[in-house]
Amino acid sequence: TESNPIVATLFPGDGIGPEIAESVKQVFRAADVPIEWEEHYVGKEIDPRTQSFLTWESLESVRRNKVGLKGPMATPIGKGHRSLNLTLRKELNLYANVRPCYSLPGYKTRYDDVDLVTIRENTEGEYSGLEHQVVRGVVESIKIITRQASLRVAEYAFHYATAHGRARVSAIHKANIMQKTDGLFLKCCREVAEKYPEITYEEVVIDNCCMMLVKNPALFDVLVMPNLYGDIISDLCAGLIGGLGLTPSCNIGEGGIALAEAVHGSAPDIAGKNMANPTALLLSAVTMLRHLELHDKADRIQEAILKTIAEGKYRTGDLGGTSTTTEFTKAICDNL
Ligand code: NAI
Ligand code: MG
Repeated sequence: TESNPIVATLFPGDGIGPEIAESVKQVFRAADVPIEWEEHYVGKEIDPRTQSFLTWESLESVRRNKVGLKGPMATPIGKGHRSLNLTLRKELNLYANVRPCYSLPGYKTRYDDVDLVTIRENTEGEYSGLEHQVVRGVVESIKIITRQASLRVAEYAFHYATAHGRARVSAIHKANIMQKTDGLFLKCCREVAEKYPEITYEEVVIDNCCMMLVKNPALFDVLVMPNLYGDIISDLCAGLIGGLGLTPSCNIGEGGIALAEAVHGSAPDIAGKNMANPTALLLSAVTMLRHLELHDKADRIQEAILKTIAEGKYRTGDLGGTSTTTEFTKAICDNL
């Protein structure tokens, strides 16, 4: 309620981050969303407690609030610290990255019937950070797959499919070659699938999956996969509907944490010029509202964004328009 707002952490981030975060704040205000933002910026020095530029206080804020929205963070140059995104994933145990991806009405790409969700295991696989040189000219990278993390992300995928009225979950893999690792991942998916008889379960080899996605993306519904495949496939899917400026994501963590984030970077080439498209961050904020079960607000805001893009009068440069971030945001607020 208005008198008892929900507190959420906001990382405006770097580059275009503060501009598009401002857009989210304006739209939320216009829609009377009962959220109070607790803003945190990336620090200028390494915080020894996080071994990164993220401050301990900002992580505490997400842990306390359990919901947050993150703008893009530029990767600081130099060694001796952990990547910001890796730190967030590890410290907050953000085990699943969820990216809904659907054709935007009125914004033309080769397809008009994309409606899928990629769910990416976010903590292990090839991204475990275990690489070393064995001898000169030979390096080794270790891919870790555990039963615990695979079951956890599979559970989330089936839970998500059920909660969002989706019919099918496809596990994406290469178990014909990676027999032990992807084999274990698939075994866990099968185990979970048995508990959800109302959801159709299938397994698709990753290379074939890429071909099918490009040929006919409407074949897919919910896709669940190990980390590296998810990183690649989710960007491929963003491309099907018009690019990274449009697609939202949400990171799900242990203990009910949800940290929504736009998947694009800080766009230094257009930062500070009032040119950025705030859609990806706005739609990420919508996934956060859905996580909070504020579906009325989420629907209203999502409809206003889609309507504004479909009308085509106000569009930012990346979509072929000439509107500023501020003008596009105002058009969304008017459509609310
Ligand atoms: P980028 O996504 O920032 O930019 C790539 C191109 O897309 C640029 O031409 C940019 O202008 C455009 N673009 C991106 N978002 C846009 C938006 N919302 N509206 C309009 N145009 C948009 O990728 P880049 O240049 O490789 O990375 C820049 C910085 O961002 C680096 O420091 C990188 O490490 C960081 N980064 C951070 C991410 C995160 O925090 N999740 C993800 C990707 C990159
Ligand atoms: Mg990526």
